[in-house]
Amino acid sequence: MSKTRQILVTSALPYANGSIHLGHMVEYIQTDVWARFQRLRGHQCIYVCADDAHGSAIMLRAEKQGITPEQLIAGVQAEHSADFADFGVAFDNFHSTHCDENRALSEAIYLKLRDAGHIATRSVTQYFDPDKGMFLADRFIKGTCPKCAAEDQYGDNCEKCGATYAPTELKNPKSAISGATPELRDSKHFFFKLPDFQAMLEGWTRSGTLQEAVANKIAEWLDAGLQEWDISRDAPYFGFEIPDEPGKYFYVWLDAPIGYMASFRNLCDRTPELDFDAFWNKDSEAELYHFIGKDIVNFHALFWPAMLEGAGYRKPTGIHVHGYLTVNGQKMSKSRGTFIRARTYLDHLNPEYLRYYYAAKLGRGVDDLDLNLDDFVQKVNSDLVGKVVNIASRCAGFVHKGNAGVLVGGDAAPALSEAFRQAAPAIADAYEARDFSRAMREIMALADRANAWIADKAPWALAKQEGKQDEVQAICAAGINLFRLLVIFLKPVLPKLAADAEAFLNVAPLAWDDHLTRLTDHTLNAFTPLLTRIEPAKVEAMVAASREDLAAASDAPAGNGELKKEPLAAEIAFDAFAAVDLRIALIEKCEFVEGADKLLRLTLDIGDAKRNVFSGIKSAYPDPSALEGRLTLYVANLAARKMKFGVSEGMVLAAGPGGEEIYLLSPDSGARPGQRVK
Ligand code: MSP
Ligand code: ZN
Repeated sequence: MSKTRQILVTSALPYANGSIHLGHMVEYIQTDVWARFQRLRGHQCIYVCADDAHGSAIMLRAEKQGITPEQLIAGVQAEHSADFADFGVAFDNFHSTHCDENRALSEAIYLKLRDAGHIATRSVTQYFDPDKGMFLADRFIKGTCPKCAAEDQYGDNCEKCGATYAPTELKNPKSAISGATPELRDSKHFFFKLPDFQAMLEGWTRSGTLQEAVANKIAEWLDAGLQEWDISRDAPYFGFEIPDEPGKYFYVWLDAPIGYMASFRNLCDRTPELDFDAFWNKDSEAELYHFIGKDIVNFHALFWPAMLEGAGYRKPTGIHVHGYLTVNGQKMSKSRGTFIRARTYLDHLNPEYLRYYYAAKLGRGVDDLDLNLDDFVQKVNSDLVGKVVNIASRCAGFVHKGNAGVLVGGDAAPALSEAFRQAAPAIADAYEARDFSRAMREIMALADRANAWIADKAPWALAKQEGKQDEVQAICAAGINLFRLLVIFLKPVLPKLAADAEAFLNVAPLAWDDHLTRLTDHTLNAFTPLLTRIEPAKVEAMVAASREDLAAASDAPAGNGELKKEPLAAEIAFDAFAAVDLRIALIEKCEFVEGADKLLRLTLDIGDAKRNVFSGIKSAYPDPSALEGRLTLYVANLAARKMKFGVSEGMVLAAGPGGEEIYLLSPDSGARPGQRVK
């Protein structure tokens, strides 16, 4: 093996104002697999992270909950830490940006930038909420879109027509915090002079630090010319006050990446053999990688290297960017139950299933990846249970019964063992390049060969014959040895399965180079099932719980967790009910309505006719095509209603309080369009 590398890796720091969900987990699992791979190879690989604790969103949320920001972030940090630990994400440190180390580093870096002339100041005019006494970030201003006149749009872009604009262009602006009409006020802001670093960034971003697609995107920004970056916010703000500037605070994105250093510093301070400077000095020989999602590339590939350069530190060796998670082909959705929190997953399923599935899906590019829940069940069951664990469970019984658990010497499958050893460098290369999907394919191809070989030798048939015991033992010893190699190759992805396999194999923790050796004349421990099949019902329960979760969260008056109940309407006579002609309808087409905020237009097939219905359910079904092909219930004899957008003929039925929580009703399968509901 080549010389030991010194590597520091990070994942982006999750915001401390929400729960970790399965989208986030793409990143933390990807980074953890890579870090574990490096350690398995014998390198020093330190993996640090932290909560991103600053900003006005956190300040306002704490206020709403009647607690201090410090209390809020402490609770979230405990929750995040537990989620990550339970997913097997092995941080060397999980810290917070709201800490002494980060304050000291942020101040020092800012002062170095300032003293080197990289900080400018100028007056900025911004909306100010006179009731709250604070300046308003764009997303805290709502008003009427200047382009299409849609109401209730955010201060920087219109969800209706997609226009982007300055908050000052909004018509009838209101503070989303207090409802007050904001006033324009001037205030002094601090800017980081990013253009000072144009030449450095042009070189650095083209020097192999970025994936090609990312480098191309950055090149567009560089060609367009860099702008100075506003790094200050006025009080009240939850963050660090800027040195010598009372009432001015660092913008959260200034001290967030410095949080990587702060977390590492905190670790160094309690780990004597770790030297902070050896990793961060300008001439450091250690490697530094940041794993991030594609939405935060500008902060990591422009602002951050420029800050490091300007303050006299080393720059990252690489920025590793991944795409976004979709679930069942669509954006995660609260109403569909596919906005799944890490904890909700853990309540229902083994974390290693997801680690494997993500690994099998992750390439080295920035493409989005899809968690298709049916495919997830099928793939995990077929690969991990059907191929990998199957080898051990097929062979272990014979070794225990026929030879007291002792693996005999010799190798009954020398060609196959050699093929496994030969495959190791390619698998390692794929891990190194973060091409985990290729690594998983190579490993599963080996597992297929091992299974085929065992099936061909059929030790279960031989075991029933006289005088074949030696052959059975030779086959099963070879099978267990091949299984051991698969465990080594999969260990970065499946740490828990590997630990359980090590216990069964009765061996010390396996390292990568152990694939060059084999177990002979070695006693196994009892075999316990290493992994069980995913039951689809568990996945369904997780989706159902994800729906409930958020219904409870959004309906509950802050704090007490009770669902609001709708009072029952007045009693009606049976005739009144029978007068409603309820039918099954097939949603043939479902589309947005130009100029309508809340409506979808449905084309219904009601058996012998088509109907046009407008329904106020857009907030729950942002992708209308998802409803096409669904059956629902339809009030056929409701008087037609003329609306601004056309005539609505009848009504479809849905339940729920509104917003994202609207559930269109469906009949059991088998119902047909036009059937009357009785
Ligand atoms: N706090 C900032 C990062 C600061 S780093 C100095 C932030 N936090 S985040 O909680 O919104 O996101 C954390 C990471 O998770 C980001 O890299 C982000 O891209 C990633 N993801 C968040 N949602 C995701 C998906 N749905 N899919 C894949 N990754 C996702 O950004
Ligand atoms: Zn608009």
